[in-house]
Amino acid sequence: MRLTHLTQNQYDTRPWKNGKGVTTEIYLAPDGTNQSDFDLRISLAPITESGPFSPFPGVERRITLIEGVGLDLAFDDHVLRLDPFQPQGFDTGLAPMGRPLDGPVRVINVMARRTRWQFTGCKVVSKLDEALVEGDLGVFFAASGTWTGSVDGTTVTMEAHETLLIEGPGSFRLNTAGQNKGIFAKLKPVTNPIEIHYDHGSNDLTEVITKKLQEVGKDLNNLTTTDLNTIDEFHVRARKATLEIGENMGLTEDSRVLDIGSGLGGPARTIADTYHSHVTGIDLTASFCKAANTISKWLDMTDRTSFIQGDATNLPFPDASFDAAMTIHVAMNIAEKDLLYEQAHRVLKPGCVFVAYDIVQGEGGDIRYPVPWARDASISHVSTPDEMHNALQEAGFRILSATDSTKESQAWFDTMATETAVPLIPPLTLQTVLGDDFRHMFSNLRRNLTERRARTMMFVCRA
Ligand SMILES: C[S@@+](CC[C@H](N)C(=O)[O-])C[C@H]1O[C@@H](n2cnc3c(N)ncnc32)[C@H](O)[C@@H]1O
Repeated sequence: MRLTHLTQNQYDTRPWKNGKGVTTEIYLAPDGTNQSDFDLRISLAPITESGPFSPFPGVERRITLIEGVGLDLAFDDHVLRLDPFQPQGFDTGLAPMGRPLDGPVRVINVMARRTRWQFTGCKVVSKLDEALVEGDLGVFFAASGTWTGSVDGTTVTMEAHETLLIEGPGSFRLNTAGQNKGIFAKLKPVTNPIEIHYDHGSNDLTEVITKKLQEVGKDLNNLTTTDLNTIDEFHVRARKATLEIGENMGLTEDSRVLDIGSGLGGPARTIADTYHSHVTGIDLTASFCKAANTISKWLDMTDRTSFIQGDATNLPFPDASFDAAMTIHVAMNIAEKDLLYEQAHRVLKPGCVFVAYDIVQGEGGDIRYPVPWARDASISHVSTPDEMHNALQEAGFRILSATDSTKESQAWFDTMATETAVPLIPPLTLQTVLGDDFRHMFSNLRRNLTERRARTMMFVCRA
């Protein structure tokens, strides 16, 4: 376990980009980086008057108020209230207005570049007993008091406003007297930015979903598909679109269907339930596959659905092993569309149907981010309808139909937004899965469709 103990005389004080204050720079990494190209940044900032936060696109922030009454962070479409010692997180690319509630405040920020680090927690503690695995990084900031402890047998003593960086693997303890508080943020290195985008900020998605269902009094052994349908059909027009796909695939109860990029498994269960076929789902995001299998267990559907982790561009199935295949809102994350469609073609039996229902680039201009499949353009690979058409043909498919459902998609968003905004309200929504910025992603996607920056298209093809 490697420790870096930073004392106040090692900190650096810098003026804000907007000229309205100074920030105490505690840590910037890697070495030699500055305020705009860091991977990791820890800073302490007083906020004495209202003003915009500096934008850092591609950077995720955990912010905790350690002095003062409160701070409102006003985003375009909502306000996040920061109460004392209640850590909050937001996408730093969004640059909210900061409004102190009653007098000056001071905040501690831990900021991490999304393509390098993923937060797995941030909490306020009065003692700490933690274990980190290889690659994990712990950031501890002593907000008040003296802290002592042992880290892998080494004794550490810290004074107020000092910081400790702890690199795993190993375990450690820190203690303090009385009411003193410290902030502890935990991060893990990013391996796949797409998986990190979807597996956002939760240590165990299955556990989070289980807890949410129990909170609203659901019996896990007596669930119905409707209890889950606010999260498990993760695409525009939800179940309705999945049923349209099913209608095109000529399924029977003997059909073996592949769902490429199966998410939480809603589409696979809808097809399996409607046609009694067997559906195999494959998805890059491990936590989605685990949750999908658990949900199928709750719904007693493990004999008709199964989910494995894998990459759509390198499918682990023999040639000609499926009677039908579908992919729903996945291609937007995949740059190598040729591989995606070649693989789909390879695993389908000749003459069988493949349906690709995706969001495509419209003629209205560049996509506004964040959207549900990407917080910024780095993992977004939206093709135009023509590009999608050509890529499918080049992979060997014969296109049977290409349907633009953008108008229906707009109408669906209108209903979703007016029906008392049900999908935006906890307990169980895609906000549970993607984090608080899902609200922003949802309204951006609606706007992208309205402005025809994005369109929804369904291609029905024959292998
Ligand atoms: C917007 S969700 C849609 C999930 C599901 N198709 C549905 O409609 O409910 C996109 C999914 O694509 C998956 N994905 C992205 N790139 C992938 C890849 N290369 N291979 C497999 N899955 C991928 C993500 O993990 C995520 O679950």
